[in-house]
Amino acid sequence: MKTRSKQLLPIAALTGLVVLSGCVTDPNSPGLEYMPDMYRSAAIEAYVDYGMDEYAFGWAEQAEQRLIQSARKPVKGSIAFQPDAKEFAMPYPYPNTPAGYEAAGRELTSPLATTKAHIEEGKAIYTQMCTQCHGEKGEGDGALSRNGHIQGIPSYSGKLKDLPVGNMYHTLTYGKGLMGSHASQLDQRDRWLVIEYIKVLQNGGELPEFDEAGNAVESASAEAGATAMND
Ligand code: HEC
Repeated sequence: MKTRSKQLLPIAALTGLVVLSGCVTDPNSPGLEYMPDMYRSAAIEAYVDYGMDEYAFGWAEQAEQRLIQSARKPVKGSIAFQPDAKEFAMPYPYPNTPAGYEAAGRELTSPLATTKAHIEEGKAIYTQMCTQCHGEKGEGDGALSRNGHIQGIPSYSGKLKDLPVGNMYHTLTYGKGLMGSHASQLDQRDRWLVIEYIKVLQNGGELPEFDEAGNAVESASAEAGATAMND
């Protein structure tokens, strides 16, 4: 018994020494760090330019850092992913040229279904942003037309009766003649919504027939123009 405690004595003394050597008088000093890696792990911060500094491109340690994953800028031309609204997140493919206008009129269709709810939303936008020029019924007789500031606004149910939705969308995006672009005020969905209401105005303000769920039903007498807009 006695001999064993004698053997342990140097070990205890050594441990005590090591523990005490961690104590220092400076209260701000961490003291002796036995395993600094445990206190200071290599924390990768988001938005830190690990090894991407061109100045340090020749440095071996920077080359190694370049392999560390960190948040990077998205590739040029990346589109923010909107899982709920993919159809409204794509860039507009037609250029602001007469050929672009023609192509949009021929090819572009609305991603929205014609429903009572969409038409109502579109009407709200129209009333707020378009009546001052186009007039409540879309006859081109809004206040700015009547007081002579903007002249020659065509009527939806007259000259523009058969205007395809692709042309409407193109005009809302880029503007045309005295009508400015509305792309900064109306996002893609809003532009298609207001077009749902213009289709009603093209039809003299007459709403389509709806089923119980509020979806427009194609009547046998529906005009060819209206059919093309629904697919
Ligand atoms: C400042 C007055 C003004 C406002 C506001 C305005 N428009 Fe127009 N809009 C015009 C004029 C002028 C034209 C005729 C453009 C031309 O053909 O030169 C026009 C033409 C159009 C056309 C026919 C485009 C084509 O391709 O021929 C559509 C569709 C249209 N507007 C929709 C709208 C909608 C929807 C709004 C509201 C979001 C709106 N406009 C707001 C003045 C206006």
